[in-house]
Amino acid sequence: MKGIVLAGGNGSRLYPLTHAVSKQLLPVYNKPMIYYPLSVLMLGGIREILVISTPSHVGLFQGLLGDGSRLGLSIEYAEQTQANGIAEAFVIGEKFIGDDPVALVLGDNIFHGPGLSALLSEQCRDVDGCVLFGYAVKDPERYGVGVTDGRGELVSLEEKPARPQSNLAITGLYLYDNGVVDIAREIRPSARGELEITDVNRAYLQQGRARMVDLGRGFAWLDTGTHDSLLQAGQYIQVLEERQGVRIACLEEIAFRMGFIDAAACHALGGELRNSDYGAYLMAIASTDL
Ligand code: G1P
Repeated sequence: MKGIVLAGGNGSRLYPLTHAVSKQLLPVYNKPMIYYPLSVLMLGGIREILVISTPSHVGLFQGLLGDGSRLGLSIEYAEQTQANGIAEAFVIGEKFIGDDPVALVLGDNIFHGPGLSALLSEQCRDVDGCVLFGYAVKDPERYGVGVTDGRGELVSLEEKPARPQSNLAITGLYLYDNGVVDIAREIRPSARGELEITDVNRAYLQQGRARMVDLGRGFAWLDTGTHDSLLQAGQYIQVLEERQGVRIACLEEIAFRMGFIDAAACHALGGELRNSDYGAYLMAIASTDL
């Protein structure tokens, strides 16, 4: 399965923070924001990844992540020239996707919870149609909202409904079979002028091939869309990392634990960052296997 991280948009709700810097590069405690969604793809075992960003920012992501080989990944880059909507990612990424199924994660979405890797690996296997991930929130009207039957089949779907039929927000992580490219090509811009991911999902719903997995209350799906929620996300990461002495969304560690790189490579990556706690942490976790 291929993976796409969509890191476009102008981040206008976070101005002036995002005047000169991409939203998805802002710090969430001790890492750039994009580390978190990228870690989700990696935990699902996905190693071929396309990062889509704006023409003015794409080079910054390239500078940060390179071709991915240091993490045992292959990372490519593409531009979204205008804010034409999330679903445009599949049109932009058509060549990259080729004949494969694809996972899309939004570059500002943070997921954290027990068993995420096992859950994703299981869900990424043999995707027929689409798989969405629901998360209970107190303000579902701000999101796509889904309703499922008892077996996880999606039965209704609405984008930012005034009267939500459930409290399950559809998170920014989506798994699709290869048919998504054709579907994205066929949908038309919405009233806000965007190719809506919800319209893609609705096409699968109409075919009876859309499922939604409820992440459950033990998970954290964090928002970074406002100054307050961005700060809260950073504090959440800080609290857990400080308490447990582990790192969340530490890409080098995930690459090591997933077997994408070996202990020596992880240790060497830590050595390059030895002046920071982050580098020392990498060297320490790799040492146990050296
Ligand atoms: C988008 C989707 C929405 C989804 C949300 C998750 O909303 O349209 O369905 O719930 O991402 O972050 P937007 O950020 O475009 O308002």
